[in-house]
Amino acid sequence: MALAPSVSHAAEVFPMEKILFEAQGLTKSFPGVKALKGVDFQLGPGSVHALVGENGAGKSTLIKILSGVYQPDQGSLKLDGTPLTLESPRAARNHGILTIHQELSLAQNLSVAENVFLGVPKPKRRLGMIDWAELYERTQAIMHGLGLDIDPKQPIHRLKIGTQQLVEIAKGFVVEPRILILDEPTAALSVHETEFLFNIINNIKAKGFGVIYISHRMEEIFEIADVATVLRDGSEIGTAPLSELTPDIIAHMMTGKDTSMVDRATFRDGVARGDEVLRVENLYAAGVNDVSFSLHRGEILGFAGLMGAGRSEIAQTIYGAQAKHAGEIYLKGRPVAVSSPQAALANGIGYTTEVRGWQLSSSLQSCPRCLMPRIGSC
Ligand SMILES: Nc1ncnc2c1ncn2[C@@H]1O[C@H](COP(=O)(O)OP(=O)(O)O)[C@@H](O)[C@H]1O
Ligand SMILES: [Mg+2]
Repeated sequence: MALAPSVSHAAEVFPMEKILFEAQGLTKSFPGVKALKGVDFQLGPGSVHALVGENGAGKSTLIKILSGVYQPDQGSLKLDGTPLTLESPRAARNHGILTIHQELSLAQNLSVAENVFLGVPKPKRRLGMIDWAELYERTQAIMHGLGLDIDPKQPIHRLKIGTQQLVEIAKGFVVEPRILILDEPTAALSVHETEFLFNIINNIKAKGFGVIYISHRMEEIFEIADVATVLRDGSEIGTAPLSELTPDIIAHMMTGKDTSMVDRATFRDGVARGDEVLRVENLYAAGVNDVSFSLHRGEILGFAGLMGAGRSEIAQTIYGAQAKHAGEIYLKGRPVAVSSPQAALANGIGYTTEVRGWQLSSSLQSCPRCLMPRIGSC
């Protein structure tokens, strides 16, 4: 598939006088790998710039240079047309460049307000005592300004992961950033929380500031971004306004392969479809509304959607971990009553929970019989 003729390189998308933040010819090597091979990048004022590319393309390395975490081997940066060196993340922050990394850096046992003011001077009363009333009030004002309703006094560990992610973002707003860099920010957000984030992004944009947005969710990029730059193997493949791109063009630029729908259809048809093993008809449960599908031998069936869309709830209902309100589940054509995880296991249905890693090891324990996170008694 040919690239759209409008896809150009970074240097050609913005007129010179409209560049807020600019990188030229960035190279960066790690032992045995050249992560960036002469990348140009330009952020325009009042725009949301998506940075896309497959795993290992160099996205995180690029933003780590733009946020002062790494120094480039070669290349230069300019802010408002003036050359600058960012020797540390603090230096970047002092220039108004705020980066939200995917990993949370919140102190779980401190309150929202204490986290928001972590590492920055807290309001003080006479004799150097912390002015708690002022601290809570200023945190409340930051939350209010971002359209968030989060109690400043709540300890972090009491909040859902998505809300914690929003606190992580709010934390950067003690001093409002001119450039906001977000690395895969919606991975832990529900549909509702993503709307809050998009409101925050649109507010920054309306003030004439810039946002760099890393995501592999195509629909999100088309919803929120104005411009996209595609990286592949450490090189900038192209930069173009989203209005001139399609998901297929972006996918092609990311992989160098033709991934058009026609090709995918050919691939699917070429795979022999085995017998039906699982069929779900008109399933209703908490968070699940009238879901039907069938799964055949040899197939991997993917469920796509944002957090809160009901993907986990479908799986948990089929696994008997949450009650089915209506609908039928058939295994090899036979209706089955999966009323508990034990019944599901007895029928050969297994489940790997999304709650793995730190959450399981710290606050939650999985039940040895049904493998579900155990909160209280199983
Ligand atoms: N600190 C590091 N040490 C060694 N190799 C690294 C380091 N950071 C990134 N890389 C390598 O550089 C390449 C680009 O990585 P990265 O910027 O993380 O890509 P992306 O964020 O697009 O997935 C990859 O091959 C990765 O393995
Ligand atoms: Mg990355």
